[in-house]
Amino acid sequence: MKLSVTSLTKHYGAHVALQDLSIEVPTARVLCLIGPSGGGKSTFLRILGGLETPSSGAVSLLGEALPESADGLLTHRRRNGFLFQQFNLFPHLSALRNLTLPLEKVHGQNPTEALSTARAALDRFGLIDHADKLPSQLSGGQQQRVGIARAIAAGPRILFLDEPTSALDPEMTAEVLELIQELAAEGQNIILSTHEMGFARAVADHVAFLAAGHIEESGPPSQVFGNPTSPICQRFLSRVMRY
Ligand SMILES: Nc1ncnc2c1ncn2[C@@H]1O[C@H](COP(=O)(O)OP(=O)(O)O)[C@@H](O)[C@H]1O
Ligand SMILES: [Mg+2]
Repeated sequence: MKLSVTSLTKHYGAHVALQDLSIEVPTARVLCLIGPSGGGKSTFLRILGGLETPSSGAVSLLGEALPESADGLLTHRRRNGFLFQQFNLFPHLSALRNLTLPLEKVHGQNPTEALSTARAALDRFGLIDHADKLPSQLSGGQQQRVGIARAIAAGPRILFLDEPTSALDPEMTAEVLELIQELAAEGQNIILSTHEMGFARAVADHVAFLAAGHIEESGPPSQVFGNPTSPICQRFLSRVMRY
């Protein structure tokens, strides 16, 4: 996965969320965004996934400029998968229906196709026994795994994960991180924001540290974690890795 961003800026009214953000990632299967809260990670992910549009700047992902038209953005979103921090599933629908609904409504599969795609995705992650349960009958970790199954069911080009484990306890965090690692090992392109530094270091091919709406440090994990040049990145890592 190739990513090239030049002078990306995103305003919300007078508020600047991303400021002159540039990054070159020549090739990466897993790109991790790290950095302090409010630094711009979610905004950047949402722009890359076509859920928001830039105020200015140029973004090229997988060798193609991000579309600007509403139709182009819709197509772009359909080709990708998304999972956010929490509240991903429809609470009134079973795990299975949470998968079949978007396969039918967004991806145009007929109910029979959608059922078999959904069952295959749940089965792949050891979730088939939970197919008929409501989200409230599943643990937080199981819910996030169902959310990931839903996000990959239609075979996305890129899976976007925004702090997928930040609402989970350590054991559930581990079960979700293991699943993400498996997907990466199977060749899934992934862009995720996370506060799990050990995971980022172990699984990412490329790490970008965002603060105050731009990239402070970017490179392979060995460099960003082992030998960061930005004082802001050094300070952040020495604080979060201390405990
Ligand atoms: N929809 C929005 N409206 C106004 N400000 C926003 C919106 N989304 C994000 N922001 C602001 O943009 C900045 C970056 O936020 P965000 O991308 O959520 O950072 P992070 O994910 O790193 O915590 C923050 O100051 C945040 O308050
Ligand atoms: Mg965020």
